Amino acid sequence: MLPFTFLLFLLHSGCLHGGNNDLQKDLKGLKTEFAVRLYQSLMGSRNGTNLVISPASVSVPLELLQFGARGNTCLQLERALGYTVHGKRVHDFLQNAQAAATTSGSGTTIQLTCAFFVQNGTHLSSHFTEHISLWANSSLETTNFSEPNRTTAQINRWVSRFAADEKPENVSLERIHSALAQIVLVSTMSFHGIWQKRFSFTNTQLLSFTSPEGLILRVPMMYQTADVNYGQFQITNKQHVGVLELPYQGSSVSLFLVLPRERGVPLGLLEPYLTARAIHIWMTSLKRTKMDVFLPRFRIQNHFNLKDVFSSLGITDLFDPFKANLKGISGQDDLYVSEAIHNARIEVLEDGTKASGTTALVLLRRSRTPFFKADRPFIFFLRESNTGSVFCIGRVTNPLE
Ligand SMILES: *[C@@H]1O[C@H](CO)[C@@H](O)[C@H](O)[C@H]1NC(C)=O
Ligand SMILES: *[C@@H]1O[C@H](CO)[C@@H](O)[C@H](O)[C@H]1NC(C)=O
Ligand SMILES: *[C@@H]1O[C@H](CO)[C@@H](O)[C@H](O)[C@H]1NC(C)=O
Ligand SMILES: *[C@@H]1O[C@H](CO)[C@@H](O)[C@H](O)[C@H]1NC(C)=O
Ligand SMILES: *[C@@H]1O[C@H](CO)[C@@H](O)[C@H](O)[C@H]1NC(C)=O
Repeated sequence: MLPFTFLLFLLHSGCLHGGNNDLQKDLKGLKTEFAVRLYQSLMGSRNGTNLVISPASVSVPLELLQFGARGNTCLQLERALGYTVHGKRVHDFLQNAQAAATTSGSGTTIQLTCAFFVQNGTHLSSHFTEHISLWANSSLETTNFSEPNRTTAQINRWVSRFAADEKPENVSLERIHSALAQIVLVSTMSFHGIWQKRFSFTNTQLLSFTSPEGLILRVPMMYQTADVNYGQFQITNKQHVGVLELPYQGSSVSLFLVLPRERGVPLGLLEPYLTARAIHIWMTSLKRTKMDVFLPRFRIQNHFNLKDVFSSLGITDLFDPFKANLKGISGQDDLYVSEAIHNARIEVLEDGTKASGTTALVLLRRSRTPFFKADRPFIFFLRESNTGSVFCIGRVTNPLE
């Protein structure tokens, strides 16, 4: 188990062996590991539906809380992420990675934000508020928990700012109650990029896509011939996957697609083999290939209540009014986190922009070029290569949903 060897050595050796390169490699590994664990903890509950979550954005509040948590509460946070932000070199690396992530390149916009909602009037440690203002574009918002409905509306307004052009879907906040000593965490991610090589609108046509239930759907399928990085990998005795990398313009961010080679293989059979180790092997073995690429347009937006996800990662004390130790946030003894909400969305289109051109149907020429045709459920992740940040990970089982 990769994570725990990393974990122990990152947590227990204040000075890491080797130079910055090793640290970077280890942290990249941990980020992938965290992404995969998030995905694994969600896939069961979402029973085969489309899914997207942003590991990069979910890890921000967990890092921030480390500045305010003490004792076992802090230890659980460190274990879940695999690192502690208290080491200077880890701290510096993460801050550089955040800066790199939020610097928008030409045509690429990544918005990772995180907010802590606290009771108006709570005395907060200045050490903690300073960290919030410096860490990954996060903010501290005050609210009045005596008025749960207004608080819910305030939080929904905050979340919907990041879905400006869409009808905001209300987050349900069942657990907001009138306890004043609570914190509500919200993290959001939205990504917008333009392909290094765009798909042409005129090449998009309605083609079939086989759903997990075996239904044949007609979906808008984008098409292009491109030089891409591609590999085929055996993951079990019988199962193979094709892995394709599609880079975005002006940045080191790429979308990776993982497609079962055989039609009719449920993703559920492959998902257990999606590990940080497998991803590392794929990343390092893809080969430049000229291919015909078919990819359905898709758009996914998900809200999650992260409480269940966090508890499956071993983070439990934080949510327990009696066990939570957040003394570094406020001198108060009784502070705890009542809700943790996450909103992620991704949209994959011909050029990445919002253009909704009318689709011309064209007959694609038959060619001998090898092809990658995502006409059945697949897994995807969006990753930045320098820092290893996984901006999102998810699956598409029905592009029309
Ligand atoms: C998940 O999907 C399967 C097959 O479609 C169905 O039998 C099962 O009841 C679903 N479970 C839940 C929790 O929705
Ligand atoms: C930072 O957060 C603000 C809102 O709090 C948002 O408008 C802005 O786009 C964010 N910046 C980045 C780089 O994510
Ligand atoms: C916080 O309380 C102060 C005074 O009690 C009030 O002026 C301010 O509007 C309140 N802010 C919020 C966000 O409720
Ligand atoms: C919060 O709301 C309660 C009930 O409406 C009110 O009595 C109280 O003054 C408010 N507190 C702040 C700080 O605004
Ligand atoms: C708060 O919302 C609940 C459910 O949406 C509703 O039943 C209740 O009447 C609302 N309370 C107030 C004070 O508006």
